[in-house]
Amino acid sequence: MGFKLWGGRFKEELDQLVHQFNASISFDKVLFSEDIEGSKAHVRMLQRQGLLAEEESELLLSELERIKLQIERGELLPDLSYEDIHSFVEAKLIERLGEVGKKLHTARSRNDQVALDLRLYLKTRSLEILQALKALMETLVNKAEDYWGHVMPGYTHLQRAQPVLISQHLMAYYFMFRRDQERFMGALERISRNPLGSGALSGSGLPVDRHMVSETLGMGPPTPNSMDGVSDRDFAIEFLSNSAICMMHLSRLSEELVIWSTREFSFVELKDAFCTGSSLMPQKKNPDVPELVRGKTGRVYGNLIALLVTMKGLPLTYNKDMQEDKEPIFDTYNTLIQSLRVMQLLIAGLRFNLDRLKEAIKEGYLTATDLVEYLVLKGMSFREAHETVGRLVLLALEEGKELYQLKLERLRALSPLIGEDVYEWLDPMKSVQKKLSYGGTAPERVMEQIRFAKEELLRC
Ligand code: ARG
Repeated sequence: MGFKLWGGRFKEELDQLVHQFNASISFDKVLFSEDIEGSKAHVRMLQRQGLLAEEESELLLSELERIKLQIERGELLPDLSYEDIHSFVEAKLIERLGEVGKKLHTARSRNDQVALDLRLYLKTRSLEILQALKALMETLVNKAEDYWGHVMPGYTHLQRAQPVLISQHLMAYYFMFRRDQERFMGALERISRNPLGSGALSGSGLPVDRHMVSETLGMGPPTPNSMDGVSDRDFAIEFLSNSAICMMHLSRLSEELVIWSTREFSFVELKDAFCTGSSLMPQKKNPDVPELVRGKTGRVYGNLIALLVTMKGLPLTYNKDMQEDKEPIFDTYNTLIQSLRVMQLLIAGLRFNLDRLKEAIKEGYLTATDLVEYLVLKGMSFREAHETVGRLVLLALEEGKELYQLKLERLRALSPLIGEDVYEWLDPMKSVQKKLSYGGTAPERVMEQIRFAKEELLRC
């Protein structure tokens, strides 16, 4: 068993099974670089405060850096006989520097150390997520621009509802991901606070300078209460929650891609490179990627719930339960970043089947509501118009026809307000052009959204 940080008080060796149960190094080893950056900032502060001599601090800094490079290059492997990455790094330092190594942990506890490491981890990972989100948003806007002017059926209850621009549908996802972007950005400020110097729970009796550590690490201000500093995991829960919401958006988009690529819909064609075949049925082309994104959303939700439940009954301050925060965080980051990247590629390669969509918008009474608006403009009350058009739809259904296929006399039989010009109102393209309300699907309105998005993307 590796070096332990707390041997003095104990008469017995830790039981081997308990060691395995207690240790977190198998997964928290990914924190090595954050751990070492945090330690370097700590060393600089200790030296400036007169708690380390200059030579000591230089030795510590260069050895810490060497350990980091060696781990990065795979020359030094975090050894599973240690409890966690913090003990491992400190043990290596002591092994290599002797007495000087033993000074690293001055005025520090693993409780404030691990809280800092996690915050540093989530800071860089949130920035990566923001980048991947931006790439996906750019791809959605470009697609929306490519398909601007083309119409598709819009749905409610997955029943044909009203015609919309393909671009309007794509831009809806743009605005969902934009809210995710806002959430991740807002959370960054709360992630970037520095808990180091909170000690185990009560602060430190040594003359530490917590503000200096914050500045060295490029973080926000030190956390204002030492007990909260070590026991707060809100920032992690917020990250998991923002990720869960973002996965929900990715999952909804995935679901649409799965449906749209069915033979029944045939609205889109996914690139072969993103689909797989069947080992048995030679004709199959399966949308595995969106299915997996949809499927992985479940585990990201699970990770959020797991940490919420872990935290809910914990008295202040640190409790070992909190070691359970890491796997959900790492798993969520890995799942979300992969899902965002793969979805960006999927959207970039997406082709809409315009011939099929042109046919699709002719069916399903998509312009029945336009006919209601037509009658309202001719002076009929909305309720009366709704009822009248309902009767017309029933009549058309019984004859197996669409509204625009009914002769003018048939239409006029239900209301003499109906004139020649009615057919214009039954045209899906015209219908779309009339949706000029702010945020509506009229081509001008959609172009405004695209322009707004493009400008905004240049700025973020
Ligand atoms: N591996 C621990 C964790 O992740 C580090 C903190 C340990 N602190 C302690 N007092 N045992 O939570």
